[in-house]
Amino acid sequence: MTAREAVRAVLGERWGGAVDEGAAGEAYAPANIALVKYWGKRDEELKLPVAGSLSVSLGDLGTRTRVRRLGAGAGEDEVTLNGRRVGGGEGFARRVGTYLDLFRAEGERYAVETENTVPTAAGLASSASGFAALAMALDKLYGWGCTARELSVLARLGSGSAARSVEEGFVEWRKGEREDGADSWAERLDAEWPGFRVGALVVSGAAKGVGSGEGMRRTAATSDFYALWPARVERDLAAMKEAIAARDMARVGEIAEGNALAMHATMATARPPLVYALPETVAAMREVWAARAEGVGVWLTMDAGPNVKLLFGAGDEADVRRRWPGVRVVAPFG
Ligand code: PMV
Repeated sequence: MTAREAVRAVLGERWGGAVDEGAAGEAYAPANIALVKYWGKRDEELKLPVAGSLSVSLGDLGTRTRVRRLGAGAGEDEVTLNGRRVGGGEGFARRVGTYLDLFRAEGERYAVETENTVPTAAGLASSASGFAALAMALDKLYGWGCTARELSVLARLGSGSAARSVEEGFVEWRKGEREDGADSWAERLDAEWPGFRVGALVVSGAAKGVGSGEGMRRTAATSDFYALWPARVERDLAAMKEAIAARDMARVGEIAEGNALAMHATMATARPPLVYALPETVAAMREVWAARAEGVGVWLTMDAGPNVKLLFGAGDEADVRRRWPGVRVVAPFG
């Protein structure tokens, strides 16, 4: 099944609805950080994962997007990122255009304005919130009235982790079994945790090396250790849900940190090796472990880049801020 067919399957009779020139839809979606990671696809085109994953959404750090239908005769989409018009040849505009191709009728063109409230320098991924906001804005534009589950499936077709950015709070993305991906969607867990904190430590603004798609392919194809990954995720998912239900910060931190390090171990054993950590990353990791040895309740997680995210409870926030004066602290539950 192609991604365009998957969109058709979700929308059913709503597919192909026309809207007036100039009609617009606008939406906001939060960024998210995975506590149990997604790394590897069972279907490249539909972005279906090998295993489930679980994240926390980052509240008002995310993406606001407005989509407007351009009039007949518009030659190409008009894409704006943080107030700057992005040329059609740039990676961002190409990814947006490819995603819009899944929805557009022949000759239809859009103006897409995207504002990231995630400071670009904060090292927090914006593709997840970006595709979630775009899917939600298209839903508003066309008036489909999609359910959260449908929005999650549509967002997934832009970027896997975007499936989790259509919801706030703790979110679990079920891997699903079906070939068409209709059962691979993310759902909010029924768990408020006002004292939960995420900290972003920017250790380097260096441009990203190998992107997540290529990184996943390479790891799955060449790392012997990757065979261990799906079972590890299943175990971590079950334990993480229990730890969240118990509001047990130490358990959540241990599972999340262990899961991230296991993911990075599979990457490091790929050929050629994939190592996202820089010397500054390793130094920051050691600082986290030193802080913990001194009794601070802080754990780390990392994604496909050199920056480190801290996980801690409100009771340790003062200590964390003292140790890392540059940390950007997020309270996902307000
Ligand atoms: O959605 P993608 O293709 O950008 O992949 C995200 C992969 C990680 O950020 C490393 C892990 C995750 O679950 O978000």
